[in-house]
Amino acid sequence: MSTIDPAIAVQRLPRHIAIVMDGNGRWAEARHRPRTFGHHAGVQAVRQVVEACIRRSVSTLTLFAFSSENWKRPVSEVSALMDLFMRAMDREVDGLHNNGVRLSFIGDRSAFQSELVERMSRVEMKTAGNERLMLNIAANYGGRWDIVRAARALAQRAAAGEVDPQSIDEASLHAEIALSALPEPDLFIRTGGEQRISNFLLWQIAYSELWFTEVLWPDFDADCLDQALHAYAQRERRFGRTGAQLRSAS
Ligand code: FPP
Repeated sequence: MSTIDPAIAVQRLPRHIAIVMDGNGRWAEARHRPRTFGHHAGVQAVRQVVEACIRRSVSTLTLFAFSSENWKRPVSEVSALMDLFMRAMDREVDGLHNNGVRLSFIGDRSAFQSELVERMSRVEMKTAGNERLMLNIAANYGGRWDIVRAARALAQRAAAGEVDPQSIDEASLHAEIALSALPEPDLFIRTGGEQRISNFLLWQIAYSELWFTEVLWPDFDADCLDQALHAYAQRERRFGRTGAQLRSAS
């Protein structure tokens, strides 16, 4: 049963939540099952969190599904994950679409099989008109890759004479970064007990509130999300100002 106070929720809900879904492997190992069993269980947790975000009117959810470093895992685990992503997309897309979820993928697609890339584009096109929840899946994504890609795009425009290098500022780099059209993540969650960013949305989380939990991703559910929302509602977001300044402005 969900315990969040609706009065707090309406006023102080994050608009955008980003999650590092960690702990699938350990969850499976604790059950003497292969790591892929944990990834399968992780899909159920994704479903629960998506539904909870819709119920809570969180407008954007960004999930780290596969990092650019995850290719270093055993080949069997990587191919099982690719297979899982394809099946999950086939199985979940209609339900997501019917619930008003717009899906989008961030990351370098060039390393994926064409079958998967085509599925990604199809799902994005099918759900493009939905507005209830924006669900971004980071696949073969790295925060440094994102910043380098943005810098390269600006450098190309400068070389073509379209942009004066002296005029390049935070706003122009931001415009080239993934998710730039969306509000920046207000709340960054990492499950699985580690307290690090692991090259997720480096630029985008400059002012995000960070929340870490020992809960392994397959066990993460709507109640866990509510705990994070409670913690977030109690944070004072100052964006460089003093607490007194904030209180006098409100
Ligand atoms: C990290 O746990 C998890 C991953 C690298 C894969 C995440 C994938 C899913 C949750 C599957 C579903 C996703 C979508 C979007 C359909 P880990 O393997 O690093 O766990 P460990 O730290 O315990 O080893």
